[in-house]
Amino acid sequence: TTIPKYIKPLKILPAMPKSTNPNNFSGDYYEIAVRQFQQEVVPGLNTTVWGYGSINDDTSFSYPAYTIEASQNKPVRVKWINDLKKPNGKYLRHLLPIDQTLHWANPIMADMHGDDPKPYTGPVPMVPHLHGAHVTQDSDGYPEAWFLPNATNIPAGYAKFGTKYEQFKGEAETAYGQTWEPGTAVYQYPNDQRAAALWYHDHSLGMTRTNVYAGPTGFYLIRDGNDDLTSGLPSGAYEIPLIIQDKSFNKDGSLFYPDNRAFFEGLKQSKLKIPFIPEPTIDGEQSDVSPIFNPEFFGNTMVVNGKTWPYLEVEKRRYRFRILNASDSRFLILKMSNNHKFWVIGNDGGFLAAPVKLDKLLIAPAERFDIIINFTKIPAGTKITLQNIGPDEPFGGGEPDLDFDLADPDTTGQVMQFRVVTSNGSDNSIRPRNLLLPAITPIPGTPVIRHLSINELVSKTVFVPVDSEGDPVLNNAGNLVAVPANTPGAGMFGPVKAELGAMENGVPIPQSWMGLISNTPTVGQTEEWVLYNYTEDAHPIHLHQIQFEVIERIDQMGKVTGPESWETGFKDTVIAYPGNGDINPGITRLRVKFDLPGLFVWHCHILSHEDNEMMLPIKTVAP
Ligand code: C2O
Ligand code: CU
Repeated sequence: TTIPKYIKPLKILPAMPKSTNPNNFSGDYYEIAVRQFQQEVVPGLNTTVWGYGSINDDTSFSYPAYTIEASQNKPVRVKWINDLKKPNGKYLRHLLPIDQTLHWANPIMADMHGDDPKPYTGPVPMVPHLHGAHVTQDSDGYPEAWFLPNATNIPAGYAKFGTKYEQFKGEAETAYGQTWEPGTAVYQYPNDQRAAALWYHDHSLGMTRTNVYAGPTGFYLIRDGNDDLTSGLPSGAYEIPLIIQDKSFNKDGSLFYPDNRAFFEGLKQSKLKIPFIPEPTIDGEQSDVSPIFNPEFFGNTMVVNGKTWPYLEVEKRRYRFRILNASDSRFLILKMSNNHKFWVIGNDGGFLAAPVKLDKLLIAPAERFDIIINFTKIPAGTKITLQNIGPDEPFGGGEPDLDFDLADPDTTGQVMQFRVVTSNGSDNSIRPRNLLLPAITPIPGTPVIRHLSINELVSKTVFVPVDSEGDPVLNNAGNLVAVPANTPGAGMFGPVKAELGAMENGVPIPQSWMGLISNTPTVGQTEEWVLYNYTEDAHPIHLHQIQFEVIERIDQMGKVTGPESWETGFKDTVIAYPGNGDINPGITRLRVKFDLPGLFVWHCHILSHEDNEMMLPIKTVAP
């Protein structure tokens, strides 16, 4: 049974309704909660999801969320409410399995490593982050600033918020004069940055992947007056945000999310369990291979704006699409089925230096692109599929070819459909090639260089029986069972995690979230960040606090290339390509200038990596 495609229209995400301003505030004010509700995601079925919405309008709760429309230099203040509660005031459990063996926002262990192999069933920690925002630490959504819903049945002994919540609460209450009530946080975004498509999503430590998969995410568009019709861009009904994610569903429409390692080990969507296997390991110690966590997630459907494979009627005119890849692990390579070319005019940090015409577009998790598609010359009645020719597995870089497990052309190889209809009026937008985009002021070069590494760690690996293809073999009860390392036919079960780290004398030194903070850039000092990727995969690396510039990449042969034409201007997420494993890493150079003191993070935006140690704090310090 497959899900029928192109029978439901694309959901257009309206603007998030505002709330009445507190009397000390003259910006845009919102009271936004995250709640659990049902929504038709798969045609004809209801899916229980989470989503943000305004508490002033119950109908505004949506997966994905409505768009926050912001104006440059006009602050936005949001009272964020964790409302994952039942109508009787008791807390809701997570929709998905929470792995307690990771380092996570654990209300029981209060930020210590847990070791319980059973999924957590308590109240859900949440902390919102505005991705790409220029914002002080109190309002950034630090992964340890999570908070629980203000539920009536939180057991005694549970921490109601993470270790950083109280400090930021104090700072924000002083700065903005508004109290953080239990189960809430009040954040303020100055919007003193370029017009750009930011997005908001949960950022709780060690559970961002599951919280985001359950639904809470939305666009946040900063406008500066350059991006309306007077400047020649398609606007209003002709400017459409698209949030693309891969997901899997159970037969009843509920979200499928793996609760065991069989998923990763190639037994996709298997109901089979791998029991927690404490031994044996390579070194005789207890294994730390999690029974639940998977190193990546790939779904078997494509969901756009909360619907599987929707269609969109487009008039014979130009459209502007703001595109976000909000997938956990999937790199998308989008193209039109008729090979129609399109223009890229912006990315994470706003407009490019100049428009670029492309026939396909690579989008890593968390990247955004601003594109214009001109349907004017396409005959009415034409149906065009927006295709994905990226891989159905971790991305290694380069052009997709037979070396990749290419997205299945029948499922994940299709994203949505455009149906061309006649136009309702004249199109006053400017031809993209003639658009004059705002000038970019490059960050001047610097002698201050920070060398950083991207590493994959083979953990305390267990051995399991494998077949001739190297795939794990189950026992008669349908489980995987560890065997001694010297068993004939035994294969390694791992690796388990990737970590960011430092470089010392040309040697990568992986670091953990809990370790000492080694990245302490000086505010106002431009730095060059040199990322050495020692893994075999590309990782989308994201820095909080600022937008940076991509300077160049160096491959394993020493070949230097500048930023891609669609990476000019500023970005907050960059693809760090691999080299050839641990011999010659792939190198990515960025120019970075932090300008606010405080505690922030940098991390891989493959959410499953971020949740298992591929994230480190940054402590920016005043000069
Ligand atoms: Cu989109 Cu640190 O996150
Ligand atoms: Cu990664």
